[in-house]
Formats: sequence, C-alpha cells, structure tokens
Amino acid sequence: MEESSPIALRRVAPDTEGLLAFAPVPGFGVLAVNAYLIRAAQPVLVDTGLIALREPFMERLREAIPLSDLAWLYLTHVDPDHIGSIAQVLAEAPNARVITTYVGMAKMNLHGLPIDRVYLLNPGQRIDVGDRQLLAVRPPTFDAPETTAAYDTKTGNLFSADCYGALLGEPAPAAEDVPAEALREGLRTWTTVDAPWLPMVDGVKFAASLDTFRRLEPKVVLSAHLPPATGMMDALSEYLTATLSAPAFVGPDQAAPERAMAAGGQQ
Ligand SMILES: [Fe+2]
Ligand SMILES: [Fe+2]
Repeated sequence: MEESSPIALRRVAPDTEGLLAFAPVPGFGVLAVNAYLIRAAQPVLVDTGLIALREPFMERLREAIPLSDLAWLYLTHVDPDHIGSIAQVLAEAPNARVITTYVGMAKMNLHGLPIDRVYLLNPGQRIDVGDRQLLAVRPPTFDAPETTAAYDTKTGNLFSADCYGALLGEPAPAAEDVPAEALREGLRTWTTVDAPWLPMVDGVKFAASLDTFRRLEPKVVLSAHLPPATGMMDALSEYLTATLSAPAFVGPDQAAPERAMAAGGQQ
C-alpha cells in the first residue's frame, strides 16, 4: 500500500488492527475516524469508516484480510462516519453478518440492508465469535439510540463507539502521545458536541453508567474518534465525568462563513 493512503493500517492492541484516519474539522482541528479488525477465530470488523474514504478503506481492508474470511461486521451505530463502506464490505464479504440492535437494523433497512444478514444484539448480551465473546455495552455517552460498545472478553479491549472521542490539534498515533491538557480539552469539546443531552443527566446516574464501563477494566480503549488508548481508562473516565459541568456546545453560525468569504474576497 502506498504511503499516501489517508488510512493507516496497523496493530493497535492484542489481536486487533486499526484502520485509522483523521478527518479535518475546520476551526477545531482533526477528529479520528477509526474502524478496527478483531483477529478472532471468526474475524470481526468493527465499523466501516467514512464514505469519502471508501476506496482507500477497502484497499486497506483487503490488505488486512481476505474478505471471504470476514465473519462479522459489528456496527457500533449507523451514523455516516461508521457505515461509509458497509455496502462494499457486504458485497465483498458474503459470509459476514452484521451485528447491531433492532433500531440499528431498522435504520439500516432504509439503506437496503438485507434482514437475513443481521444478528440482533442488545446491551448486556454476548455473541460468541469462536475463541472469545463480544459483550455489548451501552456506553455512557452516545449520539444515536442504537449505539452499543463492544468488549472483547479474551483481550480486554473495549470498542467504545463515539464515547471517549476527542477533537485534537493534530493527528497522533496514540492517545498517550497527546498532552494531557489537550486531550482533556479535546475530549470535553467532542463530548459536548456528540452528547448535547449531558447537561440534563443526573450525576449519580451518569456515574453508574460509567461504572458499567469501568468495571470491565479495559486494557485498551478503542474509540471511533480517539487514537488507540492503552492503560488510560481512568484518565479518560475522569475527563468524561468533567464534561458534565461543561458549557453546552454552540457551533459557529452563518456569520462565520460569511466573514470568511468576505475576508477571502478582500485578498
Ligand atoms: Fe455517532
Ligand atoms: Fe462517530
């Protein structure tokens, strides 16, 4: 694969490779958009990235695994940044079945996903993938009702969906490489974007929800929107809890692009 690919393919944790990309977010930096391949006895792809990166994503995936070997596609949720290559994956991986919830299936059905390729898994339930189980867990923050995180019972890796994402100033290979203050700020901003309902949440109930994650004691947190994070569960959870008191995110309004256009026109 040529070096110029916008998607990095590399081992990020035991039995797990990442298909790692960064999307520019004008005015805020960059956001990781990651998918993962679990080398289980029955291989599992977790999410399928951005539609804009469909071709390089499929190139990287074919490089990683013969697609006829892919047994499962675990959809954390069906937002566009998680289902970008789903049609290609399902076409090229005829043995793969999609793990999602009823709501995820209903939404994907609108995109033509055949029901006979779906396996319904609710939070708290497990699916056996040969040499381990994947436990579905509802993450403490999410932006779509069908969202489940997945915990790998063999490795202790946690695929946390949108939870623990962070807007970063620049791409980084691992979350440990990001200065703590930048990571705290970036996680706070992303979380207020992704979970605007947080200010309405009771702190005690939020802590209980977060405890569901913490009790798993994941060794590596593999968020869709954070570089892989090893041994950082406590720090990430502390940053996440701090977002409860963060001000609500208000995006730039129409004046911002008009200012930018006016400034551009004066040059
Ligand atoms: Fe999302
Ligand atoms: Fe996302």
